[in-house]
Amino acid sequence: MAQAMSERAPLSLVALISGGGSNLQSLIDAQAQGLAIQLRAVISNRAEALGLERARRHGITTEILSHRDYPDRETFDADLAALIDRYEPGLVVLAGFMRILTPGFVARYQGRMMNIHPSLLPKFRGLHTHQRALEAGEREHGASVHFVTAELDGGPVIVQARVPVLKNDDAKSLAARVLEREHCIYPTAVRWFAEGRLRLGEDGRPELDGQSLRQPKVLSASPTRSGTRS
Ligand code: GAR
Repeated sequence: MAQAMSERAPLSLVALISGGGSNLQSLIDAQAQGLAIQLRAVISNRAEALGLERARRHGITTEILSHRDYPDRETFDADLAALIDRYEPGLVVLAGFMRILTPGFVARYQGRMMNIHPSLLPKFRGLHTHQRALEAGEREHGASVHFVTAELDGGPVIVQARVPVLKNDDAKSLAARVLEREHCIYPTAVRWFAEGRLRLGEDGRPELDGQSLRQPKVLSASPTRSGTRS
């Protein structure tokens, strides 16, 4: 199996972060366990993002590009794209990157940019997803990995993880349960892409193993080889 996987060059990645970077860590851990990726750079729009420290600890190049230094989204995104392109990534992963992206930026990385979002999309796009799920009385909540399109959190969903909402949950406990599952589905989606099994199809849907996905894949809660916790 290891031989078959080594036929293909590792997938080069650039990860964009804004915060803790636990999803980034799940990719770093998955790589340590054999996922064929090469994290070329981690870029943060916040200098204080803890995820930068995680990257440094693993010898990954870090870059800080503060949106506060820019007058508008267009100029920030243009410089961000120039910075990303220096690393020539095969895939850009948004791992808690809390920025709204301009259409031009999104178009540039169409089919090679993924995001993870803490809800069962299309439910609860945007912020405060856990609190909103609780307020809506949801019995189930979760996370989604999707290809990024110009519509905020609206791109075609590749894979989801579902978790139960428990009686005594608050936003914090629910977020923790979801985050644990995020650390499984993001490396899984990246692995599919790295193995050449996943792409954005002509019809705008994710295509996995040659099949257009009408529904996102749902990963069960059992531990998988690629699922890791930070
Ligand atoms: C994660 O829950 C991720 O799904 C969410 O931010 C958190 C980042 O955590 N992303 C979004 O809300 C994007 N819309 P991390 O920095 O520990 O990976």
